[in-house]
Amino acid sequence: MHRPAITGTGVFTPENVITNAELVVAFNAHADLYNAENAAAIAAGEVPAKEHSSEDFIVKASGIKQRYVIDKEGILDPSIMHPLLRQRRDDEPSLMAEMGVDAAHKALLQAGKDAGGVDLVICAASNMERAYPAIAVEIQSLLGAGGFAFDMNVACSSATFGIQTAADMIRSGSVRRALVINPEICSAHLEWRDRDCHFIFGDVATATLIERADDATAGYFEVKSTRCATEFSNNIRNNNGYLRRSRPAGMADRRDMQFMQNGRKVFKEVLPMVSEHISAHLTSENVVAADLKRLWLHQANKTMNDFIGRKVLGRTPQPAEQPNILQDYANTSSAGSIIAFSKYSDDLQAGDLGLICSFGAGYSVGSVLLKRHI
Ligand code: COA
Repeated sequence: MHRPAITGTGVFTPENVITNAELVVAFNAHADLYNAENAAAIAAGEVPAKEHSSEDFIVKASGIKQRYVIDKEGILDPSIMHPLLRQRRDDEPSLMAEMGVDAAHKALLQAGKDAGGVDLVICAASNMERAYPAIAVEIQSLLGAGGFAFDMNVACSSATFGIQTAADMIRSGSVRRALVINPEICSAHLEWRDRDCHFIFGDVATATLIERADDATAGYFEVKSTRCATEFSNNIRNNNGYLRRSRPAGMADRRDMQFMQNGRKVFKEVLPMVSEHISAHLTSENVVAADLKRLWLHQANKTMNDFIGRKVLGRTPQPAEQPNILQDYANTSSAGSIIAFSKYSDDLQAGDLGLICSFGAGYSVGSVLLKRHI
């Protein structure tokens, strides 16, 4: 058996930023427009009026202050309220592949490796730009990687489930060097016209290079162990899919064709699931929470992360022990914990332990226990 190790990570960050102030101005203009257009139905009590959003609420409820997006013009236009993306020809790289390749190059550079030595590419994300061919196979081709590639989707836990898959293959010897890539164009599945969630998501791509520890040419994080779990829930759901056309009113502008969640229930049900999952993972590895130097948690909500940190460590974590990036990036689905890991892991010392943990739709939760080697 080989020891798998993370030797490089990369983050692609889009150029456009939308601040909470910009977002709220656009949403409120949309709400006013909607209320004027539907004045008669609202007055008759047939549809509810849209209420204004507020910056204060967004920061208090989520901790999010801004988000990066591929296109901001469409999102901020009160009569459009979604990103406007250029139609790409079939002989051009797809958007997800382009973002993923950028992040992958950064991960390879950090590890000091060429794409040619990669023999597994997993594109793990909440949404795929098309049904087939797999985005991962396109990325494999654009990078000039060998071996094989496939897509997988476990929503917000896609990255950790992908890391487990790659690490297990490296352990067994079926592959030698793998890229797990998470291009998340969350702006395209977010309902920007819904006040309850319009502030939640942002766009990004992350990449993680995993290879045999013996092949590492610089410092690395050994993947000591991984643990994944799922439990079915409808509290985070998106009904969009290829059967849409075949169903009555399937092509209508329907709310359930975008991200939907019962945020309060998610909060209540996912928090104990995650805290218990992490504690059980640590126990099975004979690690006590006090030994953990860092927690790189899924980046959905600051209060949620504060709660999990307190539950796992048994005390309030120092900000540096549990770094958040959601204030800048918002929720970037599977990529969030990897951005946190990529930006806040260099300072760990030889022998230090840390844990990546993601959680979300499914429900799903995935944790990766890492040990620093220098
Ligand atoms: N501006 C102002 N007020 C708003 C608002 C907005 N943008 N959105 C909602 N409100 C109002 C609500 O209407 C509600 O009013 P009411 O009390 O009069 O009914 C009040 O603020 C509280 O709304 P609620 O949705 O209960 O807020 P919350 O504290 O639960 O926060 C979330 C909402 C979504 C931030 C929070 O539930 C959450 O983060 N949940 C988990 C998310 C998660 O991890 N999801 C995983 C996705 S991958």
